[in-house]
Amino acid sequence: MNRPEVRKAVFPAAGLGTRFLPITKAQPKEMLPLVDRPSIQYGVEEAIASGIQHIVMVTGGGKRAIFDHFDRSRELELYLEERGKHELLETLAEVNRLSDRCAISYITQKEPLGLGHAVLTAQPIINGDPCAVLLPDDVILGGPPCLGQLIEAYRQTGATVLAARRVPNRQVSRYGIIATAGGSGPLHEVTDFVEKPEPKDAPSDLASLGRYVLAPDVMTELGRIDPGAGGELQLVDAIRRTLATGKVVALEFEGEYYDTGTIPGYLKANLALALQREDLREDLLDVIRTMVDRDELSVRSGSARV
Ligand code: UTP
Repeated sequence: MNRPEVRKAVFPAAGLGTRFLPITKAQPKEMLPLVDRPSIQYGVEEAIASGIQHIVMVTGGGKRAIFDHFDRSRELELYLEERGKHELLETLAEVNRLSDRCAISYITQKEPLGLGHAVLTAQPIINGDPCAVLLPDDVILGGPPCLGQLIEAYRQTGATVLAARRVPNRQVSRYGIIATAGGSGPLHEVTDFVEKPEPKDAPSDLASLGRYVLAPDVMTELGRIDPGAGGELQLVDAIRRTLATGKVVALEFEGEYYDTGTIPGYLKANLALALQREDLREDLLDVIRTMVDRDELSVRSGSARV
């Protein structure tokens, strides 16, 4: 069957990032650096590598830095040109190339009324097409681009596709957990979701992470549902309503997943990414080795220093 390709992606980035206060008081969480790039840039690179041609950034007050980051800065380029800083100019050119390869639109969510509401805000641009949703907090690297894997599953099934990963039983209460009716290999047919269950109530160990391909009926349902948990419009409630008439699948994707939306996860991602960089690896290992030598990594001395 001929179905439209997934060419549009929504980046919900209007949240308040309260888990990172005070840094997020005047700084968008999505602009916090992972080594030397803002975390949202990793998601934009993944979307473009997956064939997305139009990104819709859903932003709110205080998020202007996201717009500025993907815009061209002639002033900075001239400054670097005059000083012959060619490597740094190339770094800027890499960012410029992203917005050359993909249209980026900005739309305002006037109040942070939930993830579902943020996605619904993009509806005038999505305009009945299937679309991807990428939560910028979830950074997925290595292997073929995660979103590209989901888009391929959409091509094959026509179903709404959720990115899924198996998590240890003790961690299920941090995630939306997927109930399945079996499936083949990494693809599972979804029958329900349970938000942050106690380990004993979890229907599986498959957690839904921040990448989705939404069939058009999900956007329709988002326009119909009432606010759910926390008084917010929940994306998962709209997806659940499509289970009766449509199909929803979960794909266990290949790739390294980093949850940068919590402080420990954010620090872990920075450490892991810095260790992958040839220009930083040795210096960082030296720092770690010195800490080990001084016994600074043992629980006892660590807690004594806090
Ligand atoms: P999170 O709950 O992880 O982000 O939402 P948050 O609300 O910014 O962070 P905390 O909980 O206060 O620390 C997941 C994604 O959805 C976006 C956020 O920007 C984040 O990228 N979001 C959330 C919106 O765009 N609008 C909302 O109303 C809520």
